[in-house]
Amino acid sequence: MKYFLDSAKMDEITYAYENYGIDGVTTNPKHIQASGQPFMVAVQNLADFAADKPDFPISIEINPHLTESADMIAMAEKIHQFSDNFAIKIPATENGIIAARHLEQEGIRTNVTLIFSAAQAIMPAKIGAKYASPFVNWKELNGEDGMGYVKDIAQIYRNYGYQTEIIVAAVRSGHQIVEAAKAGADIVTAGLDVYRDSFYHPYTDLGLKRFQDAWDNTPKEA
Ligand code: E4P
Repeated sequence: MKYFLDSAKMDEITYAYENYGIDGVTTNPKHIQASGQPFMVAVQNLADFAADKPDFPISIEINPHLTESADMIAMAEKIHQFSDNFAIKIPATENGIIAARHLEQEGIRTNVTLIFSAAQAIMPAKIGAKYASPFVNWKELNGEDGMGYVKDIAQIYRNYGYQTEIIVAAVRSGHQIVEAAKAGADIVTAGLDVYRDSFYHPYTDLGLKRFQDAWDNTPKEA
């Protein structure tokens, strides 16, 4: 399973790329707002980062106010001019699907986002979207099973050999990362803090302490 960083902060992206070898980046309007950069500055910085990394996909979302396919397509084309690494995030609405289909046909990769049911994930696969993004934690916060529909999507894609890659998004814990992997997700996207938390287990620290005590009480030379 690939690990993407869910962030538009260039310091976090650089850190996760250089130290963890993350496989890609996803952003959304909230992440770009949190990065403190004007939208087009963020786009340029992400394009610059990707310039020498041909296999490093970065998802950038269109203006979420756009509702007409033609407007979505126009904005996606404009963003995509900055980098071939960009996959354009398009909402899983009817007009979003129409736009994503058009974009894929002209060679612009898309990430159909805001998917909250398996039914919403089938059409993105049929129209050849590069990615489909189910949002796990938002479902769980709403009292729903967050991972069940990811399992369904993975099974459906396997049944029909769909090439669309599942990005399990809105991931908040190591447990959700594991569940995504068990469900058969291609990719998980999470913030740096989630990955950092997933490294931690108290027994690792306890074990280190025990081994340090043993090390300190062992003669080093004959
Ligand atoms: C994924 O592509 C999204 O950017 C993200 O995971 C959405 O959820 P969040 O902003 O609540 O993490």
